[in-house]
Amino acid sequence: MVQSSSESRKNIDIDARFEHAKAVMKEAGKVAMDYYRRVDELVVETKTNPLDVVSIADKNVEAIIRDRIADAFPEDGFLGEEMGITRGDNDCLWVIDPIDGTACFVNKMPTWCISVALMIGKEAVIGLVYEPNGNELFAAMTGEGTTVNGDPVKANPVNNVNAGVMGIGMSHRVGSDALIPFMTDLIDREGMFIRNGSCALMMSYAAAGRLIGYFEPHINSWDCMAGIVLMKEAGGWCSDFLDQPDSLESGAPILVAGPNVAAQLSKMTGVK
Ligand code: IPD
Ligand code: CA
Ligand code: CA
Repeated sequence: MVQSSSESRKNIDIDARFEHAKAVMKEAGKVAMDYYRRVDELVVETKTNPLDVVSIADKNVEAIIRDRIADAFPEDGFLGEEMGITRGDNDCLWVIDPIDGTACFVNKMPTWCISVALMIGKEAVIGLVYEPNGNELFAAMTGEGTTVNGDPVKANPVNNVNAGVMGIGMSHRVGSDALIPFMTDLIDREGMFIRNGSCALMMSYAAAGRLIGYFEPHINSWDCMAGIVLMKEAGGWCSDFLDQPDSLESGAPILVAGPNVAAQLSKMTGVK
């Protein structure tokens, strides 16, 4: 029997998990910053291509996040970029990117962050992104809105793509034709884009109204799950990432947008 989301949420203390995870983000941020300050000493390995990099910092930060959450909620499961999936004894699944923006991290650029989300069954209910260099914690829990360091924020209300800056992302998991037509269209409409190397951080900026949206033709769940909660709770629009087949483990396109440019951007990107 398939459980409805309200059934799977029964007996799960989401508030306690939200409070605990916020503290874990700060602790993980301190550890990540210690590595970042001595980044020249880190051994950097490549994964799928020379620009897809990982270091001991990524692996250890993920281990710390998992350990601290498991100390408090031993029955919960985990899906992390570096350590894969471990199902728990309940419907909770923590989706973790220990360092999003690793290429920035290893090249001494501050636009990286830690991204942690909680899913209960098929629903993402907590989104947390911590950016240690700027000491900004983006936080959202279903029904409670989105905050930055405790202050409420909203998605950008502009009603045309030429009235604000759009975030974009790209990886070599897809070809250039998956992104270039959108960029051309955006420029032709007198819009502009930015890519800072971290999907989770740019989605957080969209949730805070700093960007009008974020588009990436293929993204993994650990990059975008927290951002989805942040954006929805900020009154923004999110594409149906979670409804795409195998998106949790294999990824899918992502588009998030301010409420008044969502239709325009959905048409331009072809992402629904
Ligand atoms: C990457 C970043 C990048 C995005 C890529 C991701 P990583 O994650 O989020 O901005 O464009 O698709 O793979 O490798 O830095 O964790
Ligand atoms: Ca990532
Ligand atoms: Ca990562």
